[in-house]
Amino acid sequence: MTQEVKRLRSVVTGVGSALPRRCVTNRELEGQVDTSDEWIVQRTGITQRYIAGEGETTSSLGAAAARAAMAKAGCAPEDIDLIICATSTPDLTFPSVATMIQAELGVLGGVAFDVQAVCAGFVFAVATADKFLTSGSHKRALIIGAETFSRIMDWQDRTTCVLFGDGAGALVLEAREGEGTNADRGVLSSKLRSDGRYKSKLYVDGGPSTTQTAGHLRMEGKEVFRFAVGHVTDVMTDAFSEAGLTVEDLDWFVPHQANQRIIDASAQKLGIAPAKVVKTVQWHGNTSAASIPLALSVACEDGRIKPGDLVMIEAIGGGFAWGAALIRW
Ligand code: UT7
Repeated sequence: MTQEVKRLRSVVTGVGSALPRRCVTNRELEGQVDTSDEWIVQRTGITQRYIAGEGETTSSLGAAAARAAMAKAGCAPEDIDLIICATSTPDLTFPSVATMIQAELGVLGGVAFDVQAVCAGFVFAVATADKFLTSGSHKRALIIGAETFSRIMDWQDRTTCVLFGDGAGALVLEAREGEGTNADRGVLSSKLRSDGRYKSKLYVDGGPSTTQTAGHLRMEGKEVFRFAVGHVTDVMTDAFSEAGLTVEDLDWFVPHQANQRIIDASAQKLGIAPAKVVKTVQWHGNTSAASIPLALSVACEDGRIKPGDLVMIEAIGGGFAWGAALIRW
């Protein structure tokens, strides 16, 4: 007789997001660099993005998203014992954005820290939190992706400045006992990868230890595009196989929102039907680590993602760093 093995799962209980006040359309950018609405839409799918203004920072956007997620989860500051913020655009070199958000929310216990895996940061943060929660060491986590990439843009460089935007999204993950099967709610599997040989393809040309400045984003877009479509499906296939599930079981694919063409090509490569793909790149641009939780928030708010649905999140970014996680909502 086989014995049932119960195990802890990291279950999503709330999702929230926050955007800066100011929305900037492609048309507005036409007046700043040599570009066109037509080029941006055709090459990326982006029509607008939100840009942080005075008083809006990565931590303020992150805290607003976290508050919204906590309200959905019905939890108070004293219920949270782990905060992980994924960001590459911290308010300051230190302390971490996560500790700033911790103070802002009035969370007095537990631990707060940042993870930095650029656009893949949110997947890395979910995978990290899952290890804490399923080990039994922590009970309720706030996982935040928050960015102000507009502040590391070279606003003269049309090949990058039209692509990115600012924003934040957050999840509350709670440790709950599951049956140990892939019908459980919660994170069912996660796969992370990185390969440091690709630094020159996507990096920021400044930092405390080199230039003592924040620097500007530099990217060989075509190379990143090629790598993304070529490699990112590997982690997705591994995540499915670890969970004993297939692409047929999937309800929603929520990839990093960098470029509509990358999203479409990745979905097609895996055989995911277009109707199952959540796309928000058209409204938000590429918000790096914030893009997945922003997209999750939109798809939960509009009623697409429901409890029990199988959701795949996936991202690739600077490093290169990439990963995927399967979550039963
Ligand atoms: O978040 C993870 C990291 N980022 C990404 O995943 C982004 C990955 N890369 C991409 O999304 C695409 O490669 C881009 C959207 C960045 C570029 O699209 P592309 O189809 O690879 O275009 P391209 O770089 O080959 O540029 C084509 C042309 C060039 O002109 P020439 O050399 O053919 O005369 C560019 O100079 O488009 C020109 N171009 C622009 N034209 C108008 C580049 N940027 C612009 C612009 N407006 N903003």
